[in-house]
Amino acid sequence: MAPRNIIIDTDPGQDDAVAILLALASPELNVLGITAVAGNVPLNLTQKNARIVCELAGFPETLVFAGCDTPLSRKLVTAEHVHGKTGLDGPQLDAPEMPLQDAHAVDWIIETCRAAQAKSITLCPLGPLTNIATALTRAPDIKDAIEEIVLMGGAYFAVGNITPAAEFNIYVDPEAAKIVFDAGLPLTVMPLDMTHKALTTKPRIDKFRQMGTTVGTMTAAWTDFFERFDMEKYGSEGAPLHDPTVIAYLINPDLFTGRQINVEIETQSELTLGMTVADWWGVTDRAPNCMFMGDLDAEGFYELLAERLATLQ
Ligand code: BDR
Ligand code: CA
Repeated sequence: MAPRNIIIDTDPGQDDAVAILLALASPELNVLGITAVAGNVPLNLTQKNARIVCELAGFPETLVFAGCDTPLSRKLVTAEHVHGKTGLDGPQLDAPEMPLQDAHAVDWIIETCRAAQAKSITLCPLGPLTNIATALTRAPDIKDAIEEIVLMGGAYFAVGNITPAAEFNIYVDPEAAKIVFDAGLPLTVMPLDMTHKALTTKPRIDKFRQMGTTVGTMTAAWTDFFERFDMEKYGSEGAPLHDPTVIAYLINPDLFTGRQINVEIETQSELTLGMTVADWWGVTDRAPNCMFMGDLDAEGFYELLAERLATLQ
């Protein structure tokens, strides 16, 4: 089977970094390009971090674009308290040598989709949805080229991680999230409900460390860094590894289970801004607009990660 064409839209972030590594290591996927967005840290750092990760993986020819530096209509909220000042805190990393592409990420997404065959591109947003919403609003015709959007964001049973009611990616740009959830495109959502079961336990991370490769060592060091925050917060034996679940789903969807439900985004209330109001129990007659994941085979997920990352340098 021909590899699936994907665009990774991201705000690295250590978990975004692992997602990029997994995608680059997987022959089932063809990474057309990586588009950076402001999120965990400002755009000047997320675009740089995306390039650092591609170089680390041994894929310096990957196209990396910088996109929107602020949400559609709000001030940027960042997450240095989780990811550190650089967004990739942990090990010391050299500045990347590979270039940043000249085009704006949104222009490139539009051009690429317009040049593509119908339903031939899967969008993989791992951060706030500003770039994707801007592209869909400016060029609604690109919907034809989009096979599916698989994103990390939202929560229902796990409620919030940045406010008591909202998950970070949706909270940072709720207006953008609303555009994406209302787009009428096939949409698969990886919420906290499921990613909180993908914990970086010690034996799982030791497997990365024991690979004896640069990628294995870095992955272990990154997860060691960000897990301190979540372990303290939740009292769990590891931290959720959110973003790689998007890529793992494309490689092996059988690792995940969920429900086809309606999800609406709160954009008005100050108290619950960015909440993903998920009709998990089917108590409304609102039409389903996404597949909302609730569970995963965590062992299978980490086995896939270890197997694929071991193929990198
Ligand atoms: C999401 O927020 C970011 O901090 C992570 O990279 C992930 O995409 C989890 O809420
Ligand atoms: Ca992210």
